[in-house]
Amino acid sequence: MTPFPERVFSGMQPTGNLHLGNYLGAMINWVKMQATHECIYCVVDLHAITIKHDPATLVGDIRELTAAYLACGLDPQKSIIFNQSQVSQHAELAWIFNCIARLGWLNRMTQFKEKAGKDREKASTGLFVYPNLMAADILAYKATHVPVGEDQKQHLELSRDIAQKFNNDFAASIADHGYGEAYFPLPEPMITGPATRVMSLRDGQAKMSKSDASDNSRINMTDDADAIAQKFRKARTDPEPLPSEPGGLEERPEADNLVGIYAALAGTSKESVLKEFGGAQFSVFKPALSELAVEKLAPIGAEMRRLQADASYIDAVLGDGAERASALARPVLDGAKDVLGLLRTRK
Ligand code: TYM
Repeated sequence: MTPFPERVFSGMQPTGNLHLGNYLGAMINWVKMQATHECIYCVVDLHAITIKHDPATLVGDIRELTAAYLACGLDPQKSIIFNQSQVSQHAELAWIFNCIARLGWLNRMTQFKEKAGKDREKASTGLFVYPNLMAADILAYKATHVPVGEDQKQHLELSRDIAQKFNNDFAASIADHGYGEAYFPLPEPMITGPATRVMSLRDGQAKMSKSDASDNSRINMTDDADAIAQKFRKARTDPEPLPSEPGGLEERPEADNLVGIYAALAGTSKESVLKEFGGAQFSVFKPALSELAVEKLAPIGAEMRRLQADASYIDAVLGDGAERASALARPVLDGAKDVLGLLRTRK
């Protein structure tokens, strides 16, 4: 296939309760990728309205998530940081992809099944085509790498299928317009690190999630030191001491989760955490984990609060990012229209 220059895209929904899973599964990798790649990071507000939302709080949630991006170390000078609804190409390309993706593909999406629940008929059609908008987010920039947590894998596969089908169905037109063998790259999911699926602190079988009714199930990025310590103290575990090697974590989901969290926060591997803590009881490990989490998260929470007090600064970052993002997305969408045979006025 035609080689595409490497470009990173990822996004998060501004739905409140940003938690340790979002941070360790995705954000920590986003920050690192800035050193080696051109990166585009989006606050996906159009995805947030696929389920019931409150207009009175959404704008605050958009600013809060942007503040979190910046507080975690995303640099608006280096990377493009913006909110999705300000760049109309996302929604336009999503429409095109609605006409590429097949019903059968979307019917297989487990996240739709989970979110729609039993009352599927009452789910918005936006929730059903959510993955098509996600593909548009990525492919509007011909992004090649997408750092996400494990739960987004299926959506990323669908993005690849959409890109592939567009490339196949319109191969002749793509070649005629001088785009070579493929118009879109097949974006690679990057699911890396020791905490790609952070689990609930109350249930080792359930993902840590912003929608869990129990606040004790997750560490929020804005939790203070006391809340963090208390949640880890209460976290469910088994009675055994920690093993000295990762193999010993099999069949011990709660222990595995806490060791993974420690490793990701410390920037190391589960193996090296167990070299240090192998044989230790949770009464020793949990306070060490709390201390590490407070050390890493407290400065982020404080910086988030500082930034959130300055809404005009946040809005300026998003406005500037939206302009830079549009400048990249516009020619990609125009090219896709040409390939499809749509008529557009050339400037
Ligand atoms: P969202 O907002 O649910 O989650 C944002 C990111 O956090 C990761 N994540 C987790 N990682 C590990 N453990 C967990 N418990 C955990 N919970 C969440 C998610 O995998 C994700 O990387 N559909 C996406 C947003 C999106 C997007 C995109 C992502 C829209 N367009 C384009 C990449 C590219 C979502 O709902 O993420």
